[in-house]
Amino acid sequence: MRRNDRPGRAVIDLHCHILPGLDDGPRNWDEALAMARLADADGVQLIVATPHCNLDATCPSPAQIRDLTAQLNQLLETNGLRLRVVPGAEARATTGLVEAVEAGRVLTLGDRGRFLLVELPPSGQPLFAAELFFRLRLVGVTPVIAHAERYDFFRSAPGALQELADRLYPIQVNAGSLLGREGWRIRRSARDLVRRGLATIVASDGHNATDRKPVLAAVERALRLSREAFAQLAFEHPLALLRQKAGPAATSGSGKKAGEGRH
Ligand SMILES: [Fe+2]
Repeated sequence: MRRNDRPGRAVIDLHCHILPGLDDGPRNWDEALAMARLADADGVQLIVATPHCNLDATCPSPAQIRDLTAQLNQLLETNGLRLRVVPGAEARATTGLVEAVEAGRVLTLGDRGRFLLVELPPSGQPLFAAELFFRLRLVGVTPVIAHAERYDFFRSAPGALQELADRLYPIQVNAGSLLGREGWRIRRSARDLVRRGLATIVASDGHNATDRKPVLAAVERALRLSREAFAQLAFEHPLALLRQKAGPAATSGSGKKAGEGRH
């Protein structure tokens, strides 16, 4: 039985580079399809395609992303896959980002106009991020912090990330980081964010079908999460964002943190 044939099993991958030819994701349709097959077999039912958008370098146009997403969905249907893809982007935090978002030049998650996946520069500063996020919220868009476990400056100043979480900016961690594929420091950081309830979303950040696969189901067992805790991280919170409700930090009203259901 395939994983996603189990009743009640559903996974949404909110961060995945699956559109071909746009960034360091798949180079062609064959590779994109190979990624889709892996995700489908892993239980993923919906992928948000999030190609890199760096306004200081290259940023695919929303029209291009929408068009490639439609083509990919056609390919998936032709090949009998139930998995579907919606458009989005992973935007680098740069000075002109707020204006570009306002002008519709950067796609929000699911093209819904509500949440924007934001990647910080490697040498970024928490204060810069806080100001940028505040300005994004002023124009009606809430930033989702991509792979928060990977930034040195958050590891050295964990209070800054707590402050962002307190402001209800959703925080995403990568499945590969949780599984130790980026080394023990990043694994410890990622697991800590989940266990403290700061990170409310797990996504694959998949780039290919070899060493950065679009899969995340292994996280449930590796972290000894209950089925419910995993479902929050990989389905309910991503779905809440795509439905344009308040961010997951605001919707987890039970006060129960994602890691609390561990057994
Ligand atoms: Fe990414």
